[in-house]
Amino acid sequence: MGIFGTKEIIGLDIGSSSIKLAHLKMVGGECRLRRFGAVPLPPDAIVDGAIMDHASVIEGIKAALRDLKVHEKEVVTSLSGHSVIIKKVVLPTTTPEELEESIHWEVEQYIPFDIKDVKIDFQVIGPLKEDPSKMDVLLVAVKSDLVNDYISVVKDAGLTPVVVDIDSIAAGNAFEYCHPVSEDQVPMVINVGASFMNINILHGGVPLFTRDVPMGGGIYTSEIQKQLAVSYETAEELKTGRKEAGERAERLTEIMRTVSNILSTEAQRSYNFFSATYPDRLVTKVYLTGGAAKSQFLKDMLAEKIGVEVELFDPFQGLVIEERTVDSTVAAQYGTAATVAVGLALRNVEDRR
Ligand SMILES: Nc1ncnc2c1ncn2[C@@H]1O[C@H](COP(=O)(O)OP(=O)(O)OP(=O)(O)O)[C@@H](O)[C@H]1O
Ligand SMILES: [Mg+2]
Repeated sequence: MGIFGTKEIIGLDIGSSSIKLAHLKMVGGECRLRRFGAVPLPPDAIVDGAIMDHASVIEGIKAALRDLKVHEKEVVTSLSGHSVIIKKVVLPTTTPEELEESIHWEVEQYIPFDIKDVKIDFQVIGPLKEDPSKMDVLLVAVKSDLVNDYISVVKDAGLTPVVVDIDSIAAGNAFEYCHPVSEDQVPMVINVGASFMNINILHGGVPLFTRDVPMGGGIYTSEIQKQLAVSYETAEELKTGRKEAGERAERLTEIMRTVSNILSTEAQRSYNFFSATYPDRLVTKVYLTGGAAKSQFLKDMLAEKIGVEVELFDPFQGLVIEERTVDSTVAAQYGTAATVAVGLALRNVEDRR
């Protein structure tokens, strides 16, 4: 750390239902949450991970900065969705510098888009035990258009994006830092947002399996809207229990049960795929997070389908919350929804330690 302190960087999670902003700072080896806030977005501002309504997103970012009195300019943001490919691949062992040069040729076969249209990043995991001439590499490829779109809204809001990360990787990082587990554990982190379920199975700090399922808490809302003929806002209130369901209670319960069954079946599919690929690494526990983690029946149905214990993960429990600047009701309300924003902010705290 420099004498004048580190630059303070903000985690900016541009989610489809809301923008979430987290400001962390390392103080004497302790990671402190300085600020956290969320600003809702209109339901169609971001669809399938793509920004449809730039003006609303820019306005939302500016509102978050204003509300929280943030003056820092540098942010880490992230994206998810179909335009993101995350794969563990086996490549000939070389140095990261050499790989930087050759990565495009090496990975062309793994990318279902034209290689000219993607931005590529990678992380060398290490040589294979059985054959050190080869190494495991975590490959991340994202369509350039999408990255440029996110960069442009962040810039238009007056900020400097220093890193563009991936939601599931950020969620995995938040988990690694805020809820450390021993080396022998294989945690499955499921971040359920409004549009996506970001799944990340980790081992020893490395993602073994990552997948974005294009389904999330928004399905409960749209089903409630459709079946009970109510507005988006009312559906959200009914779903989260902020509004009494009254005589609609039974139908509401049925919808919650049906959608939780759909989401947990999808998660189970990823789990089964992982188990078939890595028969020797059993998932030891499922950690459910994201705004929709608290959806009725979801946790129990996941446990039943996957057959492994499921626990809610709230990153704030692994941080010191500065009570002077963080509203305790906000922290209690958002907890699980803050995972990606915290993971993004942490990335910088860790890089700059
Ligand atoms: N108490 C609650 N019970 C059930 N669902 C909730 C609760 N609180 C929030 N949600 C739901 O969580 C979702 C928002 O979660 P989150 O903020 O993680 O998503 P997002 O980041 O905006 O979306 P995405 O990353 O999928 O684009 C919404 O569907 C919201 O209705
Ligand atoms: Mg999200």
